Amino acid sequence: MANFSLSRLHFQCCFILLGMSVVIYVIGTFFEGSKVWLNSFSMFQTANNHTLINVTHLTIYNETVNQQTSEAIHTEITTLSRDNLTDMLSTKSMTTVPVKEASSIQYHQAYPRNYRFIIDEPHKCDQEKPFLVLMVPVAPHELEARNAIRSTWGNESVVQNKTITVIFLLGLPGNEAEKQQEELKLESQRYHDVVQSDFMDTYINLTIKTTVIMDWLATHCPQASYAMKVDSDMFLNLENLMNMLLAPDTPKENYITGRVMWNIPVIRNTNSKWYVPKELYAEDYYPTYLLGMGYIFSNDLPEKIVEASKEITAFNIEDAYVGACVKRIGVSPSSPPNPSQFKDYFSGTYNREEFASVITTILQSPQQLITFWQDLKRPT
Ligand SMILES: *[C@@H]1O[C@H](CO)[C@@H](O)[C@H](O)[C@H]1NC(C)=O
Ligand SMILES: *[C@@H]1O[C@H](CO)[C@@H](O)[C@H](O)[C@H]1NC(C)=O
Ligand SMILES: *[C@@H]1O[C@H](CO)[C@@H](O)[C@H](O)[C@H]1NC(C)=O
Ligand SMILES: *[C@@H]1O[C@H](CO)[C@@H](O)[C@H](O)[C@H]1NC(C)=O
Ligand SMILES: *[C@@H]1O[C@H](CO)[C@@H](O)[C@H](O)[C@H]1NC(C)=O
Ligand SMILES: *[C@@H]1O[C@H](CO)[C@@H](O)[C@H](O)[C@H]1NC(C)=O
Ligand SMILES: *[C@@H]1O[C@H](CO)[C@@H](O)[C@H](O)[C@H]1NC(C)=O
Repeated sequence: MANFSLSRLHFQCCFILLGMSVVIYVIGTFFEGSKVWLNSFSMFQTANNHTLINVTHLTIYNETVNQQTSEAIHTEITTLSRDNLTDMLSTKSMTTVPVKEASSIQYHQAYPRNYRFIIDEPHKCDQEKPFLVLMVPVAPHELEARNAIRSTWGNESVVQNKTITVIFLLGLPGNEAEKQQEELKLESQRYHDVVQSDFMDTYINLTIKTTVIMDWLATHCPQASYAMKVDSDMFLNLENLMNMLLAPDTPKENYITGRVMWNIPVIRNTNSKWYVPKELYAEDYYPTYLLGMGYIFSNDLPEKIVEASKEITAFNIEDAYVGACVKRIGVSPSSPPNPSQFKDYFSGTYNREEFASVITTILQSPQQLITFWQDLKRPT
């Protein structure tokens, strides 16, 4: 295909290590450009053409209609080479691939550049020139949480004369995908604060969501000074946060702070929601990390974290994973000047003085955020 160019590619691909097996997903529509796509496929850039990979699932995603057209065709491990993939892509003979003995090469990927933004705000940071960007991971269906934030801390666009930008980061919806996707597009047109990437938005994929957040910051918002990853069920006091960030001794580079977690053992109980197999993270303790509910970092870190994520096997504890990346970069998490301002619990009773003095607190519902906010902002 003579006039084929990389910019016309609509392919994405990713490898995710789940348990012992590598799951390959091929996402995109087929056409003759498959070979060009394979050349840009990170695995084949570093390996030679005879590299074998273990495959358990091969999912084809038809982007035109936002649908999977084929799924999980192998339940056993299949070993494939680059040529095999090329053949499959050009002939679409997916179901005729025989199952063979598997070979062994390790791939991990929460590497965010395997994914692609399908709803984006490419010029938002150019236009708003934020000092601080609040990146809120949220599930597609959590409209109520987004709206509660939009009407509370998400609506504080200037604090202490510094611009703050809010971005909701989400993946692909599972249930009622087409309907939800339509609604998300409308929501994005209305508020211009939604960024969606093409990974499946599930609990176990939270690590991907976080590295995609880092990728968005690195590629779309390098001009910001600080960023914060803040969960959608959090109360956030931006005056206090800005006081902390604008204090003269707050580092401007290689800085990450929040609720610091030291010496946290890796959970090996297979029944636990936080179970991580040794194959994914071998050590008994996590490196020092910041609790995922809300951590703040200087905006030089996202690019470095994205780079580090290439080399660090993905595991499903997103905040500890960021801790592992930060450790690789050689940065130590900082204790905030006042650690009691990062509260990973809510007593259940609202206390105005308390909310006036914290930076973040976990809440129980979007309605609670609105109620407390209104009380906090009422004139005394
Ligand atoms: C993807 O969907 C479009 C629209 O239905 C269709 O024309 C196209 O053939 C599909 N591609 C593949 C590879 O199935
Ligand atoms: C691998 O295959 C591609 C496409 O066929 C070719 O351009 C490239 O030179 C090959 N690389 C090696 C190391 O053989
Ligand atoms: C992969 O390609 C090799 C070499 O062309 C071929 O012998 C083998 O049967 C193919 N394997 C699959 C699973 O298609
Ligand atoms: C591939 O499969 C073989 C055989 O089951 C296994 O020994 C190897 O660890 C696997 N490699 C990966 C990356 O899962
Ligand atoms: C945000 O605040 C402005 C006033 O500063 C107000 O007019 C607007 O309605 C608020 N937006 C939301 C979603 O509450
Ligand atoms: C607010 O920021 C703008 C732009 O950085 C600056 O020109 C202005 O002087 C600042 N105002 C105050 C009151 O600090
Ligand atoms: C994680 O995301 C990938 C890429 O979209 C998806 O194929 C996979 O099913 C997701 N994993 C889980 C366990 O949800």
